[in-house]
Amino acid sequence: PGTLRVALLGYGVVGSEVARALVEHADDLAARAGARLELVGVAVRDASRPREGVGTVVPADLLTEDAQGLVDRADLVVEVMGGIEPPRSLIRRAIASGASVVTANKALLAAHGPELFEAADAAGVDLSFEAAVAGAIPIVRPVRESLAGDHVRRVLGIVNGTTNYVLDQMATYGVELEDAVKEAQGLGYAEADPTADVEGFDAAAKAAILASLAFHTRVSIDQVAREGITGVTSADVTAAAQTGYVIKLLAIAEQTAEGVSARVHPALVPAEHPLAAVRGAFNAVFVEADGAGPLMFYGQGAGGRPTASAVLGDLVSAARDRLAGGKGAYESAYASLPVLPADAA
Ligand code: NDP
Ligand code: HSE
Repeated sequence: PGTLRVALLGYGVVGSEVARALVEHADDLAARAGARLELVGVAVRDASRPREGVGTVVPADLLTEDAQGLVDRADLVVEVMGGIEPPRSLIRRAIASGASVVTANKALLAAHGPELFEAADAAGVDLSFEAAVAGAIPIVRPVRESLAGDHVRRVLGIVNGTTNYVLDQMATYGVELEDAVKEAQGLGYAEADPTADVEGFDAAAKAAILASLAFHTRVSIDQVAREGITGVTSADVTAAAQTGYVIKLLAIAEQTAEGVSARVHPALVPAEHPLAAVRGAFNAVFVEADGAGPLMFYGQGAGGRPTASAVLGDLVSAARDRLAGGKGAYESAYASLPVLPADAA
């Protein structure tokens, strides 16, 4: 087969696992994508810092601090840096140069998705983001593609692995919230600034993305009502358990008579409810649609390898689209959606 050049932006929890898979599973990926996915560079802040896998799995000379230069010589760009800038500018640059983009960056999409999807649409390239919602769980594609012919009423679930891990540790071992957050950081679940997790911003970004896809409208993170878990105490968790409940951070998006409503907040879940059984950094999302009825998606919602799985799936799809001479049709549909009024949440 031919070769497609892959630029990897970020070699952290997720990026290092994407790089490892690209190198170690190169033959399988080539067979599935229809072209060799050649890793041509890895952009980081500090290329001189010693890193696991660099010099062994990944050749050391692939690391660079020149992300722009790297983007300019790629067919496929994987953005796993996090944050708004420089990812926003780098993705715009990649799209402008005709590269397809895969990102795990929900914060960026929830704030600036429309401008990026419009740019990708105009350039005729893919901008894929399965990894941005619920880690390894295939939820973006099912909601925007498999359910495109149905009428979704409600999306409800646990979409943040860090807070689920923290609440679970508090409930199971009596660990204090701050200590459990540190554990979640060590396990690679938390955002670079874990405030995004514990204050519910990360779940709100995911709720905005899911609501946009499920209800065929644009919902930005500002339109999601949000409360995190910092107000949840050990006493709350214990009291909940004594009365047959588990505290979970839920994201809920629903179509109401007044329009779309999206919110994130801690809630008491009855111990016998399936969501109560979601442990550690796992996520679970229920989707209720008129035709399909209830659907449940469950799996690892955070962590390097699970998230890399979703990134690699998007990468293979993007490669196939390029080889087929076009992009997937869904970004186009997303870009042309009407904007939800600011007071809709
Ligand atoms: P990390 O903080 O572990 O890694 C970030 C990487 O990006 C690092 O290699 C860092 O370089 C590099 N980087 C950051 N800023 C810059 C910059 N300005 N210039 C050059 N390089 C930069 O993040 P994660 O891997 O955990 O997350 C990456 C993305 O994936 C985020 O958008 C996150 O929300 C998303 N995500 C993460 C999941 C997870 O479980 N961790 C799950 C789903 C999505 P250096 O190493 O030199 O500091
Ligand atoms: N920090 C996020 C979480 C990573 O804990 O769910 C996965 O998106």
